[in-house]
Amino acid sequence: MIPTQSSCRAEAVLALIGNTPCVPLRFQPEALTVWAKCEFLNPSGSVKDRFAANVVADAERRGWLRPDSIILECTSGNTGVSLAMIGAAKGYRVRILMSHSASQERRQLIRQLGADLELFEATAGYRTGIDLANRMAAEDSRIFLPRQFENPLNAADHEHTTAQEILRQLPGRIDGFVAGYGTGGTLAGIGQGIKARHPQARIIAMEPAEAAMLLGECPCCHWIEGVAGGFLPPLLQSAPLDGEMKVKSVEALAMTKRLTREFGLLVGTSSGANVVAALRLAAELGPGATVVTLLCDRAERYFSTQLFQFSEPVAGSTPA
Ligand SMILES: Cc1ncc(COP(=O)(O)O)c(C=O)c1O
Repeated sequence: MIPTQSSCRAEAVLALIGNTPCVPLRFQPEALTVWAKCEFLNPSGSVKDRFAANVVADAERRGWLRPDSIILECTSGNTGVSLAMIGAAKGYRVRILMSHSASQERRQLIRQLGADLELFEATAGYRTGIDLANRMAAEDSRIFLPRQFENPLNAADHEHTTAQEILRQLPGRIDGFVAGYGTGGTLAGIGQGIKARHPQARIIAMEPAEAAMLLGECPCCHWIEGVAGGFLPPLLQSAPLDGEMKVKSVEALAMTKRLTREFGLLVGTSSGANVVAALRLAAELGPGATVVTLLCDRAERYFSTQLFQFSEPVAGSTPA
């Protein structure tokens, strides 16, 4: 195939996606180490660049995208930024549906990348936005829906790329993998990839303590943006889970701040939450255990949120 001008242009940004480092975080005074896959180093700043690049490439291969196509997705923000980035580089129009609660920074990044943004009131969590996207697609044949919450490509890509990178980066035994879930793609895909090589590894879902739906609790407000959107996503069903860990919003914020102040890592709140749970698992598994987690996105996405207002954990405090 002769590459078009836009596919040539896209090469630059596509070459920056994936192959992120996996680094040890050595915690004192806990005397514990966890390994962190640095997904915040993807070009738009989050793990979602992988899915955005992959779903658009797949749609192109299948002939589902034309020059007048509109890529439409409902997202808490990071997938929207990633799709807007890919759309800009490949010359596709992108339209993002986002809940009013998503951070201002993500909205601005999406607009800056030239995509259209539509805000909705998430009365039924993400479900509201997904239903809205389906209705819009039924009325406009130009619309292509990546469907991050149910598209098996989301998990499959993590199984075949992200998990394989981790297995190459940590060639010895892996004892545990911990991640939160938004769509469930990272947890299901990386979980499957690690389990296939290390069947004894414990795959653990991190859940906000205020929205521990896997434990059968009712979802409530929390401050860990990007995870636990108020429903159990279909992709999570294929995650080979061995258990769940609840992390309070205040614990996630405190750890995110610690990652920045003690390790110099400017990451978002779900990264802090993942590390809280990963440390707990490392303590449970004992000395020498190798536990891996993800640092999902960058701190600069959260200037207007609790993360940058937060000073110390407040006993008994609850998310607004
Ligand atoms: C900041 C952040 N953390 C974690 C996740 C969860 O990833 P996944 O959708 O693969 O479950 C997301 C998803 O958008 C996210 O934006």
